[in-house]
Amino acid sequence: MASSHGNIRPPGPAKGRGPGAFIVFEGGEGTGKTTQIHALKDWIEKTLGREVLVSFEPGGTALGKKIREMLLDPALPKMDARCEALLFAATRAEHVAQVLRPAVEAGKVVLCDRYWDASRAYQGAGRHLGFAAIDQLNVWGTRSFFPDRVFLFDLDPTKGLDRARERQNGKLDRLESESMKFHQDVRNAYLYLALSDPKRYRVLDASQSIDSLFALLTEDLAQCLSSNS
Ligand code: TYD
Repeated sequence: MASSHGNIRPPGPAKGRGPGAFIVFEGGEGTGKTTQIHALKDWIEKTLGREVLVSFEPGGTALGKKIREMLLDPALPKMDARCEALLFAATRAEHVAQVLRPAVEAGKVVLCDRYWDASRAYQGAGRHLGFAAIDQLNVWGTRSFFPDRVFLFDLDPTKGLDRARERQNGKLDRLESESMKFHQDVRNAYLYLALSDPKRYRVLDASQSIDSLFALLTEDLAQCLSSNS
């Protein structure tokens, strides 16, 4: 996969843009990211005494939520791949400018459910647009705003989609409804990205219990956040 996707390293350092921290949670469908993010918010506030902002993509702003509806609408199954990548990048540009960057600059710990790597995995690998094209759009759109830490919740997509179906009464959105091959490509791309930058990424086996995942996350975050408080 490496050769067909070009340079996948973010082209700049994470630091140097304010006193806060930008922590991202990534993974395929139904991996349990959202449950952990909400538990971590409470833990960081109570245990570390830091102010936390929770956000998500696609979404995170009023315009982002409208674009999200279009992106996930199962009634639009034939959306062009480049249009899809541009819409994700557009919501991200607004999200960074209005929410994420100001929060990090104000010293907050930002916990974000999905970010740029989701575009690399879903549009870059899943839609075969390549990592280089996705990076070009997002370097420009976000003015190179990179996470300090990315937690990758890794799970067999068959299990993840079963969980998503259960949670949503059998209904899947436009991207969840893609083929198993698409979801497998997404998983492999995420694992590849994590392997290529082990300082920034932590891979977690998302088939573990909620409590064991939480213990691993808090252990890593205690260290990661103590170095930037
Ligand atoms: P969401 O319901 O937020 O998924 P989850 O709860 O699993 O995080 O839906 C977001 C969907 O959009 C998900 O299928 C991943 C996809 N996505 C992309 O394809 N590209 C992106 O850049 C982002 C942020 C999400």
